[in-house]
Amino acid sequence: WIAGAAGLVIAYLLGAIPTGYLAGKLLKGIDIREHGSRSTGATNVLRTLGKWPALAVLVIDVLKGAAAIIVARAFCPWLITELSPAPPTASDLDIGVPWIVCLAGIAALLGHGRSIWLSFTGGKSAATGLGVLLAMSWPVGLGAAVVFGIVLAVSRIVSLSSMLAAVTAVILVCGWPHPLPYQLLVIAGGLYVIVRHRANIERLLAGTEPRLGRSSLEVKAE
Ligand code: G3P
Repeated sequence: WIAGAAGLVIAYLLGAIPTGYLAGKLLKGIDIREHGSRSTGATNVLRTLGKWPALAVLVIDVLKGAAAIIVARAFCPWLITELSPAPPTASDLDIGVPWIVCLAGIAALLGHGRSIWLSFTGGKSAATGLGVLLAMSWPVGLGAAVVFGIVLAVSRIVSLSSMLAAVTAVILVCGWPHPLPYQLLVIAGGLYVIVRHRANIERLLAGTEPRLGRSSLEVKAE
C-alpha cells in the first residue's frame, strides 16, 4: 500500500501543477481565476493571454496526465518489489498495478481540477484527462482527440468538444477489451470532466456559451 499511496500522491501533485495560473502570473501579473471562465485551463488561457501561452499550457497539461500514468506504471511495481518482504509474483503486479494506474489517473484529474497550490480550485481536467487516456490506452486517447477536433471544427465551442470527447472515451474503453480498472477510470474521469463543465452546460442550454474567438469578458463568472 505504501507504493500505491506514494504513486497516488505523486500523480495528484503532477496534476496539481498550476500551469495556467503560473502563465497568468508570469506573463501578465494576473490571477487567471479572476478572468473569463475563471478556469485555469488552456481555453481560458487562450481567451486571456493568447494562443502561444494557451498552446504551452495545453501541452504541459496533457503531459501532466500522461506523466501520472507513466510514473504509476513504472514506480509502483518498482516500489512493490523493493518493499515487499517476499518477492511479489507476476500476478501480484498484474492485478495490483492496473488499480494503482486507475487511481493515479483519477488523482491527476483531481489535482488539476482541485490544486493544492490554488486553494483547491483549478481547471476542468479535459487536457489532463487526454494525457491520462493517451498514456493508458493511446487508441482511446486518439479516438477522443479526433472527436474533440471534429466537434471543435464544426461548433467552435471547446466545452462541448471536451464533453463529447469524454463520452467518446467512455464508449471506446467499454466497447473494446480493457482491464476493468481502466474502464472504471475512464467512466469516473469522464463523469468528473462533465461535472466540472456544469457552468458551461448551463450556458450551452441558454445559448450563451462563447465560441472560439470571442473575448474573455463575454464569459460570465461561474
Ligand atoms: O477544458 C476546458 C474547456 O472544455 C472549457 O473551458 O474556459 O471555456 O470553461 P472554459
